[in-house]
Amino acid sequence: MAAASTSAPSFSPPTKPASSPNSVCFAASARASGKRPAAGRARMAVVRAEAVDATISPTVSALRPSKTMAITDQATALKQAGVPVIGLAAGEPDFDTPAVIAEAGMNAIKDGYTRYTPNAGTLELRKAICNKLQEENGISYTPDQVLVSNGAKQCITQAVLAVCSPGDEVLIPAPYWVSYPEMATLAGATSVILPTSISENFLLRPELLASKLNEKSRLLILCSPSNPTGSVYPKELLEEIAEIVKKYPKLLVLSDEIYEHIIYQPAEHTSFASLPGMWDRTLTVNGFSKAFAMTGWRLGYLAAPKHFVAACGKIQSQFTSGASSISQKAGLAALNLGYAGGEAVSTMVKAFQERRDYLVKSFKELPGVKISEPQGAFYLFIDFSSYYGSEVEGFGTIKDSESLCMFLLEKAQVALVPGDAFGDDKCIRISYAAALSTLQTAMDKIKEAVALIKPRVAA
Ligand SMILES: Cc1ncc(COP(=O)(O)O)c(C=O)c1O
Repeated sequence: MAAASTSAPSFSPPTKPASSPNSVCFAASARASGKRPAAGRARMAVVRAEAVDATISPTVSALRPSKTMAITDQATALKQAGVPVIGLAAGEPDFDTPAVIAEAGMNAIKDGYTRYTPNAGTLELRKAICNKLQEENGISYTPDQVLVSNGAKQCITQAVLAVCSPGDEVLIPAPYWVSYPEMATLAGATSVILPTSISENFLLRPELLASKLNEKSRLLILCSPSNPTGSVYPKELLEEIAEIVKKYPKLLVLSDEIYEHIIYQPAEHTSFASLPGMWDRTLTVNGFSKAFAMTGWRLGYLAAPKHFVAACGKIQSQFTSGASSISQKAGLAALNLGYAGGEAVSTMVKAFQERRDYLVKSFKELPGVKISEPQGAFYLFIDFSSYYGSEVEGFGTIKDSESLCMFLLEKAQVALVPGDAFGDDKCIRISYAAALSTLQTAMDKIKEAVALIKPRVAA
């Protein structure tokens, strides 16, 4: 990796004089309060002001801050100023956690189920996860091949850290979930980005994958249904990918299936580990945040061969320990809702589908915009690049996805995420985890704002 292997941090000797602003401040405030600072405390304050070495580890320095920050800050500032910004940037369902799940969590507290659980998660939850994976995904795991963590994000980070070494390559189809490349960086590995195109529904072309693989390739990260595109990998395409993966003994696949249940027929979810020969090489990640509207409960899981799970468990044991005991009881209740989350989940999916249909139809009415109809998740990833280069009176030039989002925030008061954050600057992401009426208002405002821009290329 690169970025992390920059030169060693240099230590700068303290340069401030003894009467540094901090120590002066300390003394002044003590005088004002009429109290005399204890000699030790005063000395410590001086020492702290002078000796702090603010060097940050090169690995952390190499991490890129979120590119969505500017737009989020701007949206927050507008909201604070009383502007009614419609936030369609968040990656979380707008629904409440289904009542039965929430009650299971409350009962856990009432019943005093509030202590540490085993690091890997409770046996009852891991057994329930094994049943789910067998019944819904056709993959067999035993409880010691399952690790429950504080959200799928922790599962993925640990998996990448556990299997990747400096010099390894992590293959990531773009558009990607923002955190994958940063996780590779944390592990000291190098991200190899594999671009996909909207005309191919943002699905990885097997030939491109084959052309990028070599003896350094360690991990391919697949996400289906995808954040940010909503694309779902058909089984036949995954089978083609598996045939290529098989040729590289060192190559593993991390299959992020967190949006599994948020899928619109006729699309069907296939777990990569269920494909012939892939069980040994696949680390399957799933969780409760999205399908069960449980983002705040922080619960996810990894299923993989025991050696990988044990390695991830080792990191977790020194890092956070097991997930919350309360959330694990709630997670169990979620899995008990029935196949694919039963009615509670299918009701939410129906609402998401209605919103998707509305947005797809509405955006198609905008000139110069390209859309690939998402088949899962709750995002639309729209190509607005034909507007780039246009001048808008009172705003300036729409240069890229970030300036377009800034423009839409300013003129339409709708917060969206620039595609650049996901590795595709042509597009912007809209989350439809919001009520249909909110989306309708947002759409009207977006249309009005877009009418101010003249597309350079006709649709
Ligand atoms: C593709 C993808 N994977 C993993 C996660 C992490 O989910 P969790 O909330 O369980 O950590 C997210 C959350 O946005 C996601 O979009």
